[in-house]
Amino acid sequence: MENTGKPREGFSSGLAVFFASLGSAVGLGNIWKFPYLTGSNGGGAFLFVYFICILFVGIPVLLCEWYIGRRTRHNAIGAFESLKPGSLWKGVGVMGVLSAYLVMFFYTCVAGWVYFYCFKALTGAFASISAESVEGLFGEVIGVGTAGQSFFSKAVLSPIFWQFIVLCVVGFGISMGVRGGIERITKTLMPLLFVLIVICDIRALTLPGAGEGIRFLFHIDFSRITPSVALSALGLAFFKLSLAMGIMITYGSYFTEDVHLFKTAGKIAFSDTLVSMLAGLAIFPTVFSFGMEPSAGPGLLFMTIPLVFSKMPFGTVLLAAFFLLTSFAATTALLSLMEVPVAFWSEEFKMSRKKATFMNCLFIGLVGITATLSVDSSSLLGGIKLFGDGFFDFYDHLSSNIIMPLGGLLIAIFVGYFSKKEDVAYELSNHGTLENGFYVRFFSFVIRYVSPALLVIILLNTIGIISF
Ligand code: PFF
Repeated sequence: MENTGKPREGFSSGLAVFFASLGSAVGLGNIWKFPYLTGSNGGGAFLFVYFICILFVGIPVLLCEWYIGRRTRHNAIGAFESLKPGSLWKGVGVMGVLSAYLVMFFYTCVAGWVYFYCFKALTGAFASISAESVEGLFGEVIGVGTAGQSFFSKAVLSPIFWQFIVLCVVGFGISMGVRGGIERITKTLMPLLFVLIVICDIRALTLPGAGEGIRFLFHIDFSRITPSVALSALGLAFFKLSLAMGIMITYGSYFTEDVHLFKTAGKIAFSDTLVSMLAGLAIFPTVFSFGMEPSAGPGLLFMTIPLVFSKMPFGTVLLAAFFLLTSFAATTALLSLMEVPVAFWSEEFKMSRKKATFMNCLFIGLVGITATLSVDSSSLLGGIKLFGDGFFDFYDHLSSNIIMPLGGLLIAIFVGYFSKKEDVAYELSNHGTLENGFYVRFFSFVIRYVSPALLVIILLNTIGIISF
């Protein structure tokens, strides 16, 4: 069967497909989430569990999304409409676009902090910073104590300004098109990111006492693997591969016909994990070498790292390199998120790409301000709660805990039970030109029985029906 969509712009080659998808997978998750989770949950043992999750849920759902995208050559919502016209399955596409928006509301805010730190590092502001001043700086960034201040005060406007810069950069990249923007940017930034990480690694691994950091990351301790740790590995696999946000459906719709989907999925999962490990090798030896305790999340990225890097020789240069690579990671991940609504609006409403980009950036900027002003409970909008969360946490929790696992489950069910087996096999074997029957059969089994079961467990755990 031929693809149903009209011919449209797409990636130019398999290499472009690889870098664009890797650009989406590699993001803030590699730097503040993955290495810390690995180190504190049993090191090599956690990695082993993570790989099982990648194999049985991550890669199968990724393949489902690429199948849906490449087969239909449509955006996330149009793709379901094209496969099952007039059915409720379109709702799964709507959920994807919705979670892309929700994630962008807060991800642009965090990316803004990264840009700000990058600017500070490049201008040498961290040269001799103390623990108190680095804490104070982060407090400023997240708007601590701004409740009751005027919206137009500098403390309130400054993080909004950086979020605005992020949207301008991402919007500019997206408006340049799939090839001229996403492809060109990811092909340049991904190799650069790799070089910058390796530079940071060399410095970190030659510090006295670096061995403790390596041990933290790679010791193997199977006794640390509890059901709840396994569950977080599963959630991480989803987050890392940017699943259930419409991203991989949209990117799949730009893939060339000759891309070997199985091999590409394996390469992406492997390279993404490699980037996380390399980031961990830059972070933990440095942190331990200066006698500090590693933490997770914003604390690690915005307080510990500036402090330890500023204390070592060539620290300011390395800190600039580190924040530069972190801003590359955040930017390429955001490009993939932004492409989801832009593809939808420009295709379904016949809007020009530039106009769709502008309107979406404006919308995300306006709503995203609510996330930026609610990070801390003493921030300007910190007192407003939605289901017990401030805006920032609400966008994060609703998308990561509910919409993404539910979307992933529905995608697996759609491909496993509501799509013709022959159609799926035809697409995954590149129209029958690949001899990959074993992989296709393995995939069909996993997507029908294993992935849905694991995803149901995640969901039941999230909504509190079962707990580990
Ligand atoms: N996969 C990327 C990361 O790990 O940071 C980027 C990402 C995009 C994560 C979108 C989460 C997300 F919702």
